[in-house]
Order: sequence, then C-alpha cells, then structure tokens
Amino acid sequence: MTPKKIAIIGCGRVGTSLAVFLSKAGYNVVGVASRTPSSAQKTIQAILSTKGEGRNNSKEDINKVAIPVVPPPPPSPIERGNNYSLPLGMGGEGQNIYSYNSKDVKLCISPAEASMLGDIIFITTPDNLIQNVCFEISSNPLVNISQKTIFHCSGALSSCVLASASDNGADTGSIHPLQSFAPYTLGQSSPFIGINVSVEGSEKALTIGKELIDALGANYFTIPTKSKTLYHAAAVVASNYLVTLENCALELLKEANLSEDKAYTILEPLIQGTLNNIKTRGTIAALTGPVARGDFAIVEKHLKDIDEVLPNFSRLYRVMGDYTLKLAQKRGELEKVSIDRLSEVFNK
Ligand SMILES: NC(=O)c1ccc[n+]([C@@H]2O[C@H](COP(=O)([O-])OP(=O)(O)OC[C@H]3O[C@@H](n4cnc5c(N)ncnc54)[C@H](OP(=O)(O)O)[C@@H]3O)[C@@H](O)[C@H]2O)c1
Repeated sequence: MTPKKIAIIGCGRVGTSLAVFLSKAGYNVVGVASRTPSSAQKTIQAILSTKGEGRNNSKEDINKVAIPVVPPPPPSPIERGNNYSLPLGMGGEGQNIYSYNSKDVKLCISPAEASMLGDIIFITTPDNLIQNVCFEISSNPLVNISQKTIFHCSGALSSCVLASASDNGADTGSIHPLQSFAPYTLGQSSPFIGINVSVEGSEKALTIGKELIDALGANYFTIPTKSKTLYHAAAVVASNYLVTLENCALELLKEANLSEDKAYTILEPLIQGTLNNIKTRGTIAALTGPVARGDFAIVEKHLKDIDEVLPNFSRLYRVMGDYTLKLAQKRGELEKVSIDRLSEVFNK
C-alpha cells in the first residue's frame, strides 16, 4: 500500500466508519471536517480509539476491535452552523491536532482546510450537498486540487457530480458500499468486512479505490460511469422493492385472517428457499407457480378476491404477473392458449 493521506468531509455514518477503518488499515486520516464541530469531534474520538491497533481489517480478523480508550474531547472550535465560508486558519493553525499511532489528525474548520491536508478526499455529506462541497474545495485557490483524488460514496450519483474538481485536474471517483450503515459506535466491528463495493471514475481513482476497498476487507467491482444510475436502480429494486412486495404478501395474509407475526413466520422459509433457488439456478429456472404453469384459471380467481379485499394491490399484481409471464415464456414450455389468456387477464 502506498501511504496516502485521507481527508473526510462529512462526519456521519459512512464518513466516520471510513475514518476509523481506514485508520485501522494503516492509512493516515489527516483531517476531518463536518457541518458541526461536534460531529467532527466524535469522528476524531473514534479515530483516536484505534490507538495501538495496526492493520486489522483482514477478512479473518472481523471482530478484533480493541476496547477504546476515549480521549478527552478536543477543545470546541468556534460554532459555525452552516457557514463554510470562514477563511482558512481561523481557529488557529496548529490547534486541534491529535496524535494516534504516530500520526496526526486535525479537526478542520472547513472542507477546504481538510482538503489541503489530504491526498485522498472523501466527501461523505448527504447526496444533495456533494456537488456544492466539491465546488467549494475546487474553487479554493489554497487547495492544490490537481494533486488530489476525490471520492464520494453515493450509490445514485456518479463521479460526474465531482466535475468541478476533475475540470481542474483532480482525479475523481465514486465508491459505493452495498451496505446499510448505522451511526458509528465506539468499538463496533467493521461494517465493510466481506461486503461488495462498487467503484467507478478515472483510471487513477479506480486504482486507488480498489486499494482502499481491499484494505477495508471488502470486495470491489467496477462499473462504467454512465451506468451508475441503472446500477443504483437495480439495487433499489433488489432491496427496497423486495420489501414492498413482501409487505403486499403480508397484507394479503392479514386479509386471510392470519396475524402479522404469524404471517411472516409462515412466509419466511418460502422467501429464503426462493432466494436460494435464484442463487443456485438463476431467476428463470427459479420461477414456479401458476403463471409458470400457465394456469390462468387460478390467476383469475386470485384477481377476483384481490379486487375485492385489496383493490390497491390489484394493479401491481397485474403488472408483476405480466412481467412474470414474459419470464415464464423464456423457458419455452407454455402453450400459446395459456399465454394469450394470461396476457388478457393481466392487461384487462
Ligand atoms: N448510510 C448508509 O447506509 C449509506 C450506504 C451507502 C452509501 N451512503 C452514502 O454515503 C454518503 C453519506 O451518507 P451518511 O448516511 O453517512 O449520511 P449522514 O449520516 O447523514 O452524514 C452526513 C454528514 O454530512 C455532514 N454534512 C452535512 N452538510 C455538510 C457540509 N456542507 N459540509 C460538510 N459536512 C456536511 C453532516 O454533518 P453534521 O453531523 O455535522 O451535521 C453529517 O454528519 C451519502 O452519499 C450516502 O448516499 C450511505
């Protein structure tokens, strides 16, 4: 690993986890900045709690996190609220610097100050602020932007949102962990171990991104920059819409007079078995049920009852059914009469 200095801008769930586990992987987190000083202070405390720990993000070393020694809180810098236009150096050069593992980390008063210190800059603010924060650091003449590599961690946005930096010679990329991050708690195990993380961006950003992801104990995969939105839509369908569908199934079971707790217990082995079949056989082979069998009479009965008890769901049932029919047709086993009849039912 080439030693690289990391700056974190946005000390929330992802920013703090990156700061802690990149520190533990041997990277030097040199500066952190956030909207409020208190969040940046918490991230500094989390970094300092890794004192005495070396590289331990290996996949075999998942839970070896030392009991943290919480340092005294850093002196509180001037409360700035949302204002990021304070001149660099305000708060005192040399102040707010803390040592850990023979390295220094500074609690910075602005994104620009953190960017001056780091070679690799993570903008881990909410998605809608990434572009503005990037512009803020790129347009600051004190930040040598052409020497920096800038990442954000949004799944929905590509590295194009960092154009103000790349237009000025920086390398830019996005690193998106397919993981749900809770607020960081001192001493917690790494949320990065074994997860899949996408990376896209410039050639240099890809190289550095892969190295960082590897150091975090996660698995990387690359996607073309232009495909980032579709990639994110896929993640939304796979995760969020699966939740919506299962919720519809639970609603139907409630209408069938089963209690909510019991309903999920009843469905769980079916859901797990289906996921397992998709994993081992693929989606087309995993498909079972009345549509796959061409049983239009059963589907008609479903719709008759659904229209009666859960009319809001009947449109989704029809749309999903029609899509399922197309999937079933790929197996080439359905008779034409079944296909026509099912298609008619779903499109009525
Ligand atoms: N959470 C997840 O599960 C997850 C998963 C994958 C990817 N991501 C991505 O990771 C990124 C960060 O998400 P998150 O969940 O960590 O968000 P978060 O917990 O809400 O943290 C965002 C942080 O940004 C700080 N911030 C807000 N405005 C700022 C500004 N102008 N300058 C500097 N810092 C500012 C906030 O600071 P204060 O605390 O000081 O107010 C907050 O701590 C997003 O792009 C998100 O899409 C999140």
